[in-house]
Formats: sequence, structure tokens, C-alpha cells
Amino acid sequence: MSIEKEMKDAINDQINFEMESAYLYLSMAAFFEDEELPGFANWMKCQYMEETMHAMKLFNFLIERGGQIKLKTISAPEGNWDSYSEVFEETLKHEEFITSKINKLVTLSRKLEDYASESFLMWYVDEQVEEEDSVKKILTKLNRIESNANALYQLDSELSSRALSPLAVPTIMGQPTE
Ligand code: FEO
Repeated sequence: MSIEKEMKDAINDQINFEMESAYLYLSMAAFFEDEELPGFANWMKCQYMEETMHAMKLFNFLIERGGQIKLKTISAPEGNWDSYSEVFEETLKHEEFITSKINKLVTLSRKLEDYASESFLMWYVDEQVEEEDSVKKILTKLNRIESNANALYQLDSELSSRALSPLAVPTIMGQPTE
């Protein structure tokens, strides 16, 4: 069954939201590079790559369903923050916004009785729980330690260990992963 226009348009919008997310996190990676916090920068670069993967998963799904891709403008992030906590507060707010968009997509898939889209979107529902949780944990730590330089460098070292999921590249390329 081919995909309906309303769902196709909504998925194209979501591709844009995910690419905007990627661009936002890339600007945060640049901010942390300037602050000479390579671990925080690494975490944001991984986040950037994951968002690209989220966009490409939608891209590949839409192609598979016979929909056309319509890429849209990505706005420039402002890239100014007064504190490290503020960066993660914005990250959390942004992830909550993305969660609300995913939930709306699920609602739409149910309204259209598009069960293939609904099933596909469940991956994003789970992913958003994880995304929000990981940001909240970092924010909690940052709020506790921001004025303590030693603890900040310890957290930076912890964040330097984040690595890209081994499934990210095949997913971006639309290759089978199982
Ligand atoms: Fe793709 Fe972080 O939401």
C-alpha cells in the first residue's frame, strides 16, 4: 500500500527536524571545542551523527514506501550559551520538542490506519525515551559540579568515551543491519 500524502509530508518535515537537531548539536560541539572540553565536544559530535542517522532512517523508509523526498532549509543555530548547564537545558528542551513531533506522527499514522508507519515509528518512540534520559543525567551532574573544575574535567573525561553506535553508518547508508 503506497503512503498517503499527509504522512509523506509529515515524514519529510520530520527529516528536517532531525537534520536541524544534527546542526544544533554540531554547533554545541563547536562551542565545547572552543571551551577546550573535548569530552563534551565528543558527546555532541556523536549526538550530531545520531541525528543524521535518525533523519536517514526516515529518508530510507520514505523511499521504500514510494514517497518522494523534499529537503527543506535548515536554520542556523545561534550558538551562544552562558553556561554548560544552559547547553544541556536547551538540548533537553529540544529533545522534548522532538518527542512531541514523533508522538504527533504516531497519532497521524493511527488516524490514517497506516500500520507500516506506526510500526516503524515505534523505534523513534523508544529512542526518544533514551535521548531525554541521557541528557537529563548529564544535566543533573552538571548542575551539581559546574563550579568545581576537577569534577568538570572528570565529567569531560567520562563523556569522551561515548562512541557512535556500530549500526549508525549502515543505517545512514540504508544497508541491511541484520
Ligand atoms: Fe532524533 Fe534527538 O532526536
